[in-house]
Amino acid sequence: MPSVTFKSVTKRYGEFVALRDLDIEIGDREFLVFVGPSGCGKTTTLRLLAGLDSVTAGDIYIGDRRVNELASRDRDIAMVFQSYALYPHMTVYDNMAFSLEIQGLGRGDIQQRVQRAAQQMGLEDLLHRKPKELSGGQRQRVAVCRAILRNPAVFLMDEPLSNLDAQLRVQARAEISRLHRELESTFVYVTHDQVEAMTMGTRIAILNQGVLQQIDTPQAIYSAPKNKFVAGFIGSPAMNFFDGVLVEMADQLWFKSDALSLPLPPTTSAQYQRYISQRVICGIRPEDIHDARYLPPSIVTAPLKGTITHTESMGHEVIVYLALGDGQSCAARVDRRSTLALGDRVELAVNTHVLHLFNSHTEEAIS
Ligand SMILES: Nc1ncnc2c1ncn2[C@@H]1O[C@H](COP(=O)(O)OP(=O)(O)OP(=O)(O)O)[C@@H](O)[C@H]1O
Ligand SMILES: [Mg+2]
Repeated sequence: MPSVTFKSVTKRYGEFVALRDLDIEIGDREFLVFVGPSGCGKTTTLRLLAGLDSVTAGDIYIGDRRVNELASRDRDIAMVFQSYALYPHMTVYDNMAFSLEIQGLGRGDIQQRVQRAAQQMGLEDLLHRKPKELSGGQRQRVAVCRAILRNPAVFLMDEPLSNLDAQLRVQARAEISRLHRELESTFVYVTHDQVEAMTMGTRIAILNQGVLQQIDTPQAIYSAPKNKFVAGFIGSPAMNFFDGVLVEMADQLWFKSDALSLPLPPTTSAQYQRYISQRVICGIRPEDIHDARYLPPSIVTAPLKGTITHTESMGHEVIVYLALGDGQSCAARVDRRSTLALGDRVELAVNTHVLHLFNSHTEEAIS
């Protein structure tokens, strides 16, 4: 039984459609991550589920109960907001203990649970402070702790880690994933950080302008994005896109643009047949463009010529930016031993077995 269901849910603010016809089933104990650019409707979705806003059309179910008219407090959810909403006059301890007191737990029990949660989130030294005496990241962690302590059926988290520094973020990410495994509750998590989405989600739902683009496992979304938007949104640096034509020469299909000539794997020719002589978009992930001197074993490649305009050495890899003949630029993630340098005219190697083709008009993946 799915624990949360959206059925054709639409939310309008006046004329503006913040969420359009959303259909999603979130499984019991799933960790579903909503991602998408700013303003795409992520917070709106959570607010509707939390009962802080009402739907314009459609139905929301928690378990098999329709909750459209159910008050927020009766939905058995806990929400960590983008703007954490702590009680300013209470200490960290009291902020965390509050919901347990309402539940009528004994003093000793409350103390034990608060201590344990505080320890998990690295807050044990801050329990006596007031929210205004905390950094943004510390406040966020208090808000996460407070939600954990309520132990609801469904956790809703809206960018709970956005104020943490890089190192704490990595820690807190692992911590929240662990909590999810331990608590056996359903998590609905909002972020615009794709690393969080990829590493934490059992599935990812990608929204754009209030419309669900794709929902699937992180791996499936990365390797088989349904459209150009998803392909460009997930992955960093973003996928490179080239406008061109699909042509057939001597029983071989090619993608051709001004800068590129890529033979397509014979295994894919059936699926591309009806696009022969038509304009298509070819997507190539930066990690599928290699320094020809450091090729992974047994891949099939085609050359890509250009001039290096910028390099970023990341330690474990080098990102190089390339100006191609036609004025287009593209990014490649090459081996860390690579010595490609600014101004070099180079011939890189494109792995032709992992190309992504999109219909030029609809921008849907061709598969
Ligand atoms: N009360 C409101 N009245 C009018 N428009 C609203 C209201 N709340 C949200 N919106 C609009 O709805 C759209 C979706 O907002 P939402 O807060 O869901 O975005 P988001 O995906 O959470 O973005 P962010 O990543 O910036 O937090 C935005 O364009 C926003 O301006
Ligand atoms: Mg938001």
